[in-house]
Amino acid sequence: MRTFYDQLDPGVRVCDGTACHFAGGPALAREAGGKPVRCLGVCYDPPGMRVGDDVTGGSDLAPRGAWGRGADFPRAHAPPRRSLVPPVVLRNLLGSRGASADEYRMPDGDTILRVVEASGLRGRGGAAYPTGAKWRVARDTPADLRYVVANGDEGDPGSYVDRVLMEQDPHAILAGMLACARAVGATRGVVFVRGEYPRARATMVEAAAEARDAGWLDPGFEVEVHTGAGSYVCGEETALLRAIEGLRGEPSPKPPYPAQVGLFGKPTVIQNVETLAQIPWLLQQGRRSDTKVASLAGPVAERGLVEFALGTPLSAVLGAAPRGARWKMALVGGPLGRVLPARAFDQPLSYDALPGLGHAGIVVFDETVSAGALARHLYDFAAAESCGTCTPCRVGTARLARAPDRAALERLCETLEIGSLCGFGLGVPRPIRDLLAAFGDEVFA
Ligand SMILES: Cc1cc2nc3c(=O)[nH]c(=O)nc-3n(C[C@H](O)[C@H](O)[C@H](O)COP(=O)(O)O)c2cc1C
Ligand code: SF4
Repeated sequence: MRTFYDQLDPGVRVCDGTACHFAGGPALAREAGGKPVRCLGVCYDPPGMRVGDDVTGGSDLAPRGAWGRGADFPRAHAPPRRSLVPPVVLRNLLGSRGASADEYRMPDGDTILRVVEASGLRGRGGAAYPTGAKWRVARDTPADLRYVVANGDEGDPGSYVDRVLMEQDPHAILAGMLACARAVGATRGVVFVRGEYPRARATMVEAAAEARDAGWLDPGFEVEVHTGAGSYVCGEETALLRAIEGLRGEPSPKPPYPAQVGLFGKPTVIQNVETLAQIPWLLQQGRRSDTKVASLAGPVAERGLVEFALGTPLSAVLGAAPRGARWKMALVGGPLGRVLPARAFDQPLSYDALPGLGHAGIVVFDETVSAGALARHLYDFAAAESCGTCTPCRVGTARLARAPDRAALERLCETLEIGSLCGFGLGVPRPIRDLLAAFGDEVFA
């Protein structure tokens, strides 16, 4: 149990997420006697460190590692952000912010459901499933109680937009939950916040109390905040529900889907916090946004959050390379995502054009990082985070690092793809196959 949940141990924790790993995280962990964790969500300012509830970035420490920015870099909790389009997700974080109460002004449930369905909005947590379709199933499933759950687990190393939204725009998320509750007839809301994000937890708790006291939530709709304990797989929706129920966070087979049989057996809509944060805007405008926020890390000129129109090429999202840096590849969508070599940086970023785009955490690597080093980092992550429920994933992820050659590695990938119960085991091979296709035997160097 203690090895499954890496936030249960007290003491110093040093981030070993992808960006921090390649920016001196392991050395800092040894120096500070810290336990490695994945990921503290300060990927733009690596390596991150947590002592108690205080999370700091690398610029709070002595500059270290090739990507260190020095002491003038913004503090960990305030990443730079910008938008290539009129911002929707970041609307309240760029430019002027409206009154919090305005986020909660919305029509009746039938109208909300109609507008969300007609908009064709797809979830931003990774699976890109149509939001309205999920809400319709939850509403049409007979029940005496329904739940809406905000997924703020944000497990992908390299991704930190959810942390920033929870810390700096909590009312947009809560208003999105209220809209969902009205549309499906839910009376209970749960915000599941990653254990590595103590500040996000505090702001969500405060905002929920403020919304309740100000009468912004419908009478009878109650929201509580649940904190994760440091397991990546708990971000998967069925595992997340088990975790809220107090059980070990293991995925279960689907169907039934949570919208039919979810939390405590009741119909439950689970949405990523970035999806929810768009809903108030969508209801005001009557149409969805086709934008997504990318979290940038590694050697790019402007690290931080960037909102872009889906379909924009990766190169435009990244902007310029820093002077003297030669890009080698990028990990897009986290450890279950995609690896793109620099020659493919004109790849459009959308859920259709790039399956595996996921939550659009993007870590860029220069020539100092070999394909083999990235592969080993991904194997470690897979072996450490597999929940162990099904054999192909439990055994297969442990064997990745020992595969002697390409044929053996591809066989393991195939086993994971065929035999895994959940999206974790199914997704682990994706970046490995990309690495093999782009870099061949360098993966074994
Ligand atoms: C291994 C695994 C981890 C996941 N982690 C997250 C996560 O941290 N946050 C998230 O929103 N979705 C995560 N998901 C996707 C959720 O299962 C689910 O599809 C999502 O929360 C639905 O919200 P959306 O439709 O708004 O994207 C994960 C999926 C898998 C397979
Ligand atoms: S695929 Fe892996 S993470 Fe998913 S249930 Fe099986 S063992 Fe657990």
